[in-house]
Amino acid sequence: MRELLRALPSLAGPLPAFDPATAPEDPLALFADWFEAAIEAGVREPHAMTLSTVDESGRPSARVLILKDLTEEGFQFAFGSAGRKGKELAHTPWAALTFYWSPLGRQVRVRGRVELADGSRDFLARSESARAVALAGKQSTPLADRAELAAAVESARERVRREPDVVAPDWVIGTVVGEEIEFWQGNDERRHIRVQYRRVAGAWTKEQLWP
Ligand SMILES: Cc1cc2nc3c(=O)[nH]c(=O)nc-3n(C[C@H](O)[C@H](O)[C@H](O)COP(=O)(O)O)c2cc1C
Repeated sequence: MRELLRALPSLAGPLPAFDPATAPEDPLALFADWFEAAIEAGVREPHAMTLSTVDESGRPSARVLILKDLTEEGFQFAFGSAGRKGKELAHTPWAALTFYWSPLGRQVRVRGRVELADGSRDFLARSESARAVALAGKQSTPLADRAELAAAVESARERVRREPDVVAPDWVIGTVVGEEIEFWQGNDERRHIRVQYRRVAGAWTKEQLWP
């Protein structure tokens, strides 16, 4: 494995230029710019991000989620709150998000408080299958048999057809209210560029960090 790993390139160029002096005052504007660049560069699922949370003893866990919206308030994602991340966020409403757009050598890191809100509107916009799986519930609990899953999802699907307005009771929207957002641009010569924004007394400050 070691040989295999060592033979793989990382941050292979050419990578785009990023002049930190041109970074806007608002990190959300920079995020929107970089996000559009990721789409143009053909990144698959540029809206997939890693959400990291901690449990009661401070032990972290991370998983990939889809970014559902970016508003003035922050980065939004949707999930059933009965599972692990829901329990962890109920205890410690803080999280980190990580995006990595490989063809551009760009990483964005977000850290902030998480606010939870009703997820009905998001739930009703989901596909029938996605609603059925969420309604079948039990996410992150042990599954003994795939037949049990198939039966539960099938019965939930029939319910979705009978009651098109039904919403999984634990479906929520989480918003990471960024208090620290870092933009990382890889550089072919390893002189990577890091611009970190921090929200201080309601206003954004920014500075560069050593790579
Ligand atoms: C590309 C991708 C997108 C995903 N999107 C979501 C999502 O939007 N919401 C969600 O709850 N889980 C999503 N998942 C599943 C999560 O990674 C995770 O398995 C699940 O939410 C259970 O996490 P937990 O046990 O930590 O609560 C996605 C997984 C992948 C690979």
